[in-house]
Amino acid sequence: MAAGVGAAIIDGKAFAAGLRARVGAAVPAFQAATGRVPGLAVVLVGEDPASHVYVRNKGIATREAGMASFEHRLPADVSEDELLALVAALNGDDGVDGILVQMPCPRHISEARVIAAVDPDKDVDGFHPVNAGRLASGLPGLVPCTPSGCLMLLQDRLGDLSGLEALVIGRSNIVGKPMAALLVAASATVTVAHSRTRDLAAHVGRADIVVAAVGVPELVRGAWLKPGATVIDVGMNRIALPDGKTRLVGDVAFAEALEVAGAITPVPGGVGPMTIACLLRNTLIAAHARAGLAVPSL
Ligand code: GUN
Repeated sequence: MAAGVGAAIIDGKAFAAGLRARVGAAVPAFQAATGRVPGLAVVLVGEDPASHVYVRNKGIATREAGMASFEHRLPADVSEDELLALVAALNGDDGVDGILVQMPCPRHISEARVIAAVDPDKDVDGFHPVNAGRLASGLPGLVPCTPSGCLMLLQDRLGDLSGLEALVIGRSNIVGKPMAALLVAASATVTVAHSRTRDLAAHVGRADIVVAAVGVPELVRGAWLKPGATVIDVGMNRIALPDGKTRLVGDVAFAEALEVAGAITPVPGGVGPMTIACLLRNTLIAAHARAGLAVPSL
């Protein structure tokens, strides 16, 4: 690509603000139909500082959208049984449409058991095996927030994804696997790369779409990309600089990729803001589905 002709920057922050506004605009009609607003319960166990920030931001965003936010903070030494009892109470609470237990949980708590304890119809994280199965089977269900946000950005940028070569780097249950399922459902041709993949550069070079979600700072080099590719960088890696400060970088070498890609999400300000917006969207979807109302398209 000629010097000075850089990739378009995909403004996830602006897109997320628009989505949050559309979610908020749908709340009054739900309230008129049901006599209540959608409610999201967030459970935080322990003192992880990053989790505290995430949970606070989720509460603020929920209230800004006109929904009810219920926050439950439990000490790090709470027993798994006590946490499961809280989840059961939230499952039975009619004012709660969405339940999110912030991960990671302390080591003595099985995240798998906690995820399985959430009512699948309130599972706004989309982590429950029932929702993973629904997604894999093409059935309606709650889809994990981060891949859902990535898909919205891709479709906004590219329109129809059918027939495009998509490479997902990473195979986590939270991002990689549901991302691949969403891209298959959108009729892309999908490859999933991971830590055992041989010659990642060759796979990247074939891809019209690259979604990087491995948590390795600047793993994907700009020179690997197919010219014009659309790059979605899910990575959020804090790296130390020689001067002792830190910087947030993605899984893609951003400055290099700008020279080759057609469009790319920045870190921060790309995928990150979409996650909370999609959480609010899932809460609205769950509320409508539970109330037997048609789910608004957003
Ligand atoms: N921890 C980091 N991201 C997430 C998320 O999307 N959901 C939950 N429950 N915990 C997280």
